[in-house]
Amino acid sequence: MNADFIWGVSSSSYQIEGGAREGGRGLSIWDTFCRQPGRVANGDTGDVACDHYHRLSEDITLMSDLGVGAYRFSVAWPRVLPVGYGQANEAGLAFYDRLVDALLAADIEPWLCLYHWDLPQALQDMGGWTSRDSVRWFADYATLIARRYGGRVKRFATFNEPSVFTLLGYGVGQHPPGIKDSTIFVQAIHHVNLAHGAAVDVLRSLVPAASIGAIHCQQPCLPSTPEDKTAAELLDAYWNGAFADPQYLACYPPLLREHIESYICCGDLDRINRPVDWFGLNHYCPIFVKADPDSSLGFASAEPPGEFTRSGIGWPIDPNAFRDTLLAVHKRYRLPIYVLENGIGSHDTRRDDGQIVDDHRIDYLRNYTGAMDSAIAGGADVRGYFVWSLLDNFEWASGYDPRFGLVYVDYSTQQRFPKASFRWYSELIRGGRRR
Ligand code: FCB
Repeated sequence: MNADFIWGVSSSSYQIEGGAREGGRGLSIWDTFCRQPGRVANGDTGDVACDHYHRLSEDITLMSDLGVGAYRFSVAWPRVLPVGYGQANEAGLAFYDRLVDALLAADIEPWLCLYHWDLPQALQDMGGWTSRDSVRWFADYATLIARRYGGRVKRFATFNEPSVFTLLGYGVGQHPPGIKDSTIFVQAIHHVNLAHGAAVDVLRSLVPAASIGAIHCQQPCLPSTPEDKTAAELLDAYWNGAFADPQYLACYPPLLREHIESYICCGDLDRINRPVDWFGLNHYCPIFVKADPDSSLGFASAEPPGEFTRSGIGWPIDPNAFRDTLLAVHKRYRLPIYVLENGIGSHDTRRDDGQIVDDHRIDYLRNYTGAMDSAIAGGADVRGYFVWSLLDNFEWASGYDPRFGLVYVDYSTQQRFPKASFRWYSELIRGGRRR
């Protein structure tokens, strides 16, 4: 592996911070959604999460012990701008000052993502991503972040997985704001794309030497049966193409064009297609799809076929799909790739002797990083790999049941316990172990 290759871990604000009512933080759409009965497993919320808001130093010490060169986190928009625009919240900004300064002191490069799904509720009340004003709100927020941190942070991502939060939030209603409407969904897609372009321009002009990208979930969408081919192609267009294609190729996938055309104003595709420095790629597994005339979009997710091994939370395991995805993204977009999320969810437990023996996670990471090596050998320009995630955390609508961390979190005490996979990844980073 090239000596400049970056090994890291990723996280996001709402999933770990907690401190939901502290330091002047405003409400996000997730605070609201978690309070609606039946939306999130067990009625869980991110109110406390991993209490990272108070345990930042301890968590950075864990990262140092792990040996990562980079940490990707997101800023909670409502922590720094409680109603999304206007007066900034100094206490919120100071929290990220502390985080960035402590990372730099530990020689860990901060990778700052502007948006990992926690839109200020006040902006949702004004239409959220369905309003074209969201482009201006996001650009103003990016300006605040660039001015405050741009002297110390050089790596910026605009959005995390725009296809996921628009599809789940506006297309099928499983995430906030809980809407199921194909028209509203495509409107949101277009505005998020415009907001991405506007933020790239802001970061480029305010942060000298910024290295900028967006983070896309790229997963093969496979038909459950041969009859589901059309459904799989449609999901593929939304999931893999609706953001990457306009952002890097200046066009929408043909299957979406007709639906989205009426929202496109003259010059929009140029506004979206701004030069970026890299492609941020998240990948977990292939997705299986079936036609479903009763769903708002005409398709629904399907069970993977029996021959697949599955993770503890039922996701199929297929390292070859990861290799093929890296090669396909390389060929299509011709950008350096950083894998900014990869990992496995399960129901890890602590043994009586206190150990967490997550051999399934070690196997997964060994096989997936091996698949990445094959993709690199095949020509894919992959420059870094970040595990999701450092800590077990709040897994959105599934609450705290799935555990994705290299570190086990006992939520009743907030104590952290490195799992066996933590030691394995640390040895991999330090070059002590052959995959
Ligand atoms: C991704 C999300 C991340 C986390 C992982 C498991 O889709 O970006 O926040 O939930 O899945």
